[in-house]
Amino acid sequence: MLSFLTSDSQGISVSLCIIICFSLSRWLKSDTRKLSHIPSLTIDLPLLSYIGVIQFTLASGKLLQRGYDRYKGGIFKVPEFFRWHVIVSGKMLVEEMRKANDDELSFEQANDAILYLDYTFCREVHENPYHISVVRTSLTRNLGVLYPIVREELMMASHEYISPTEDWIKIDAFQTIMKIVCRTSNRIFVGLPLCRDAEFMELNINFTMEVVKTAFLFNMVPKFLRGFVTRLTSLEAMKRRAEMLLRPLVEERLALLEQYGDGWSDKPNDMLSWLIDASPRGDGQLQSVVLRVLMVNFGAIHTSSMSFAHALYHLAAFPEYQAELRKEVDTVAEEFGWTKEGLAKMVKVDSFIKESSRYYGLGSISLARIAAKDFTFSDGTFIPKGTMVSAAARAMHFDEENYANADVFDPWRFTNSDKPGSSASLRNQFVNTHPDFLLFGLGKHACPGRFFASTELKSLLANFVFTYDMRLQKDGVVPPPTWIGAALVPDRNAAVMFRRRQSKL
Ligand SMILES: *[C@@H]1O[C@H](CO)[C@@H](O)[C@H](O)[C@H]1NC(C)=O
Repeated sequence: MLSFLTSDSQGISVSLCIIICFSLSRWLKSDTRKLSHIPSLTIDLPLLSYIGVIQFTLASGKLLQRGYDRYKGGIFKVPEFFRWHVIVSGKMLVEEMRKANDDELSFEQANDAILYLDYTFCREVHENPYHISVVRTSLTRNLGVLYPIVREELMMASHEYISPTEDWIKIDAFQTIMKIVCRTSNRIFVGLPLCRDAEFMELNINFTMEVVKTAFLFNMVPKFLRGFVTRLTSLEAMKRRAEMLLRPLVEERLALLEQYGDGWSDKPNDMLSWLIDASPRGDGQLQSVVLRVLMVNFGAIHTSSMSFAHALYHLAAFPEYQAELRKEVDTVAEEFGWTKEGLAKMVKVDSFIKESSRYYGLGSISLARIAAKDFTFSDGTFIPKGTMVSAAARAMHFDEENYANADVFDPWRFTNSDKPGSSASLRNQFVNTHPDFLLFGLGKHACPGRFFASTELKSLLANFVFTYDMRLQKDGVVPPPTWIGAALVPDRNAAVMFRRRQSKL
């Protein structure tokens, strides 16, 4: 993403842009013919279509809203550097995307086309994504028993990085959030003491950013330059370093498994154990497990930190929301303690995070797929094999038919205001996926880590309002997020002011 680029890579990207304009205009032309039946929001002519590419890169939210206003319930397309991106709108067609099989609309292929997994991780990660089922099943199933240590790590990390003082202190919000999220997540990924190791944490945070940056650059360069671009990044060096840090731990676990087999009664119940169990035995096992630890960290750090930053900026801008949330958190914590059960009763906390995800979200699209063969939607729109298709998530989140006063940030939108104090209905819950709430995607490829993410984000928000008063340097002004391609990125340099809460328990 642009803001992650260093100045030298900016120079490179400018020169690459020139190559691009020449090589691409031809490419887009043949692609354009195959998709000419799908209306375009931008000019289709060679070179001039780059105006559209720039619009998509710098203001995709606005561009897709324009498409939605014109073609709601239908299908349109927008240009990216090397491909057209077909955008599907309306619940009916989005449901068809959900129902499509993997051999029709492929999640794997789209994921690879967005993150370039073969280069950023390695082919093996892309071909045998066992980490996804580990996250979906083992992580989700163990959330209850592991909640106390998640909570403990989160508390310790927060206190360490944001000390609750009487006077206001200024905190570099985004960096701090990433550190708290990284450390908390790794408490159940790799356990103590590695989760608190400064180098291990920094490495995972750096790696996450480097993957995003590399994928963004890949998106702008022709295929033959990819090998060259990879050499400009530090991905390989970071992978080797991660292997050195994790090797002793993995080797110890493998040796104990060998020795005790199923009879190993003290076997740690963490992500590393689950990954080792799920990984293919033999030569590449260590490397495979190390890459999955990096992958799971990538999944956990990037999206959760972005989501939490959006929520925190809004919360800091509006102290009245802090007071309202604090009432709920104080009451629930007193009755249920800081437990998973208690967390489920924090309806307003859940609603705040969900509204922030609706209002800011992660970007303009969701449910990215690539047509694995020719595909036809029920409205007759023909999608040729190889086409990238996504849902107009943000525009649907702002549709008055789905949400009354959709333009208003209403933090209690998802509470059952008619039945105060009751648990939110399943439909209202943050983790629930639905064609009108597409943050996590939909269907069998919905984000496998969403139960963990929800638990972590809610605990973090509850802990913040319980412990601190928060405000911004300029009262009431949310630091504006930036569009970078399809992503809506929160301000990465904004400061948030914290002090120990002044109101009594
Ligand atoms: C992470 O990135 C920062 C800034 O580029 C660098 O100073 C630091 O050495 C990196 N740390 C690791 C462990 O890679």
